[in-house]
Amino acid sequence: MTARIIGTGSYVPERIVKNEDLAKIVETSDEWIVSRTGIHERRVAVEEGTSHMAVEAAKKALADAGVGAEELDIILLATSSPDYCFPAGACEVQAEIGAVNAVAYDISAACSGFIFAMNTVYGFMKAGIYRTALVIGADCLSKLTDWSDRSTCVLFGDAAGAAVMRAEETGLVHMTMGSDGVKGPVLSCVARTTGNFANGRIPEIGYMYMDGQEVFKFAVKKVPDCVRQVLEESGVPIDEIRYFILHQANYRIVEAAARRLKQPMEKFPMNMDRYGNTSGATIPTLLDDMNRAGKLERGDKIVIAGFGAGLTWGAALVEW
Ligand code: UT7
Repeated sequence: MTARIIGTGSYVPERIVKNEDLAKIVETSDEWIVSRTGIHERRVAVEEGTSHMAVEAAKKALADAGVGAEELDIILLATSSPDYCFPAGACEVQAEIGAVNAVAYDISAACSGFIFAMNTVYGFMKAGIYRTALVIGADCLSKLTDWSDRSTCVLFGDAAGAAVMRAEETGLVHMTMGSDGVKGPVLSCVARTTGNFANGRIPEIGYMYMDGQEVFKFAVKKVPDCVRQVLEESGVPIDEIRYFILHQANYRIVEAAARRLKQPMEKFPMNMDRYGNTSGATIPTLLDDMNRAGKLERGDKIVIAGFGAGLTWGAALVEW
């Protein structure tokens, strides 16, 4: 038994912020952003938070799968920008959609979060523990962004994507996940847990920090490495892969991965031009775009791969 994706959904906020809009608040230009990242515009949440976006994506995924919320055994929300430290955003989703029979909790693995959540469900289904799961990747990084820091504020957007997974004979074939905590400081955001009565410090409200070049170097090596690993370990030739659904951080990272894997760019769909880097939501929103456009056919082999803060990385070979 394995875990198969049987429905997808996504949500993006209405507010579109174009590169030209950012050029009015920091020293940047549409030319710089497009040529260095491939991003033209992104969505920014105004009133909505991570849980609201997650709920909307979840409802669409359930409708697409034809699954009732009460059928869910488990809800995993991958996010690094939850609305609350606790309860978990997954519990809010559970309450909103009425998934009364599910266990619900969050997974924190930044941009690798959706892959980690999907792979966790695979483990549960392979072991025969759960039959129906809802996996969501949702992030509202605009609220952790220093809007005066041009090296990060041009990169990110807000969104949520979701997939319903069911225990079936075909689906997720093989996966890998990894972490390197030593490299953690290159991409980080401090939580409000730094001050208390005993140390006399006021809790810090942190913004994200990123050493972009370090993350870039890590990504262009790690992504092709983990794609090759899942293919080699499962004995599937790379030419049999119809699509590589990669984390949408920078089109140059995707191009470098395609070059290293010796695969044509047509196999690497992208949506970062419209949404920017939406962290845990890039992969499920892209899957949903492809699914709704009828680009995924039953039996297609696809590889999903990503990387993010931690540092973390992961990949999965999936039969659609
Ligand atoms: O989801 C995972 C999270 N993050 C990533 O995957 C990000 C990975 N890294 C990247 O995508 C790239 O490193 C960036 C897009 C962040 C930066 O691109 P880069 O080609 O590595 O640029 P750079 O950092 O080397 O900066 C080049 C120049 C610098 O100026 P000087 O020192 O050459 O004068 C920067 O100060 O560009 C400057 N710069 C900007 N200029 C205009 C940095 N940000 C901007 C900006 N607009 N927004």
